Amino acid sequence: MREQLEQIRQQALDSIAATTSEELLNEIRVRFLGRKGELTSLMKGLGALSTEERPVIGQLVNSLKNELESIIDSALSDARNQKTAQKLASERIDVTLPGRRKMKGSKHPVTLVIEEVTEIFSHLGFSVAEGPEIEHDWYNFEALNFPPEHPARDMQDTFFVENSMLLRTHTSPVQIRAMLKQKPPVRIIAPGTVYRCDSDATHSPMFHQIEGLMVDSRVSFSDLKGILTIFTNQLFGQDTGVRLRPSFFPFTEPSAEVDIACVICGGSGCRVCKQSGWLEILGAGMVDPEVFRHVGYDPEIFSGFAFGMGIERIAMLKYGISDMRLLFENDVRFLRQF
Ligand code: PHE
Repeated sequence: MREQLEQIRQQALDSIAATTSEELLNEIRVRFLGRKGELTSLMKGLGALSTEERPVIGQLVNSLKNELESIIDSALSDARNQKTAQKLASERIDVTLPGRRKMKGSKHPVTLVIEEVTEIFSHLGFSVAEGPEIEHDWYNFEALNFPPEHPARDMQDTFFVENSMLLRTHTSPVQIRAMLKQKPPVRIIAPGTVYRCDSDATHSPMFHQIEGLMVDSRVSFSDLKGILTIFTNQLFGQDTGVRLRPSFFPFTEPSAEVDIACVICGGSGCRVCKQSGWLEILGAGMVDPEVFRHVGYDPEIFSGFAFGMGIERIAMLKYGISDMRLLFENDVRFLRQF
């Protein structure tokens, strides 16, 4: 009996020593101390012993039971501590590490220019008008006095959709839509996306324009010149030189191309202005009477001017961007600078 006890003791100690798992320790407790455990069944055998031996062995069994109980308890509490320590170690946060900075968005240069131009013209009494990007031929060409065989309608320039629908090639159709919607006086600007089949360092198949239109009973070419001078001075700085060159558009007569003194070299000649000292920034002119007839305005009573500018071109000049494609690649290292 004593030997048997010693054997059980050794077995129990070995299996306790061999594990740090709470689960296994609980199993060990059941195996040795449980109701059907080894010590319990040994107790049941006590009856077969002599009356002298019975209390002695009984006491040995009890003290082994107490011993194992306390060893298992302390092994269990070690196991729990270890688990907690491991958990704490794995969840440890180094509060001395620098924080991760949030990426801050910024406005796209095209948006910045649209906002600035819109702001300048709103102070001159112009309000914003819009039109669809998928446009009918009539608004984009016909009503703007483009003759049927005009080269601008050519496949090379225009993205045609179907049934006389196309992607607008300029914001000028918004002039037509605005005039059909209201009677003079009209004072609108129309920023928007336009499309042309063209792509290189200074052309993109999708780009943006801002259209301007003013119609009233006595609008003259000097009004056009005055408004555009105020505009260029505000956008590019006071005393920016402005020059108008005769030009042609089917929907304006007379027409002009508007140049500003080169913002890079100040007029002395450089690569950006191709040594001319001037940069073309917009097309403009007096609304052609033929256009007025298309929208039901009497050209004997009303006159007006219109202008249109490429926003990307202005952004490139204003921010010194050399390749238009940078504006569409959405590289954050580029966009972050604005
Ligand atoms: N729509 C013309 C273009 O895209 C620009 C323009 C607008 C010219 C208004 C004159 C008047 O080139």
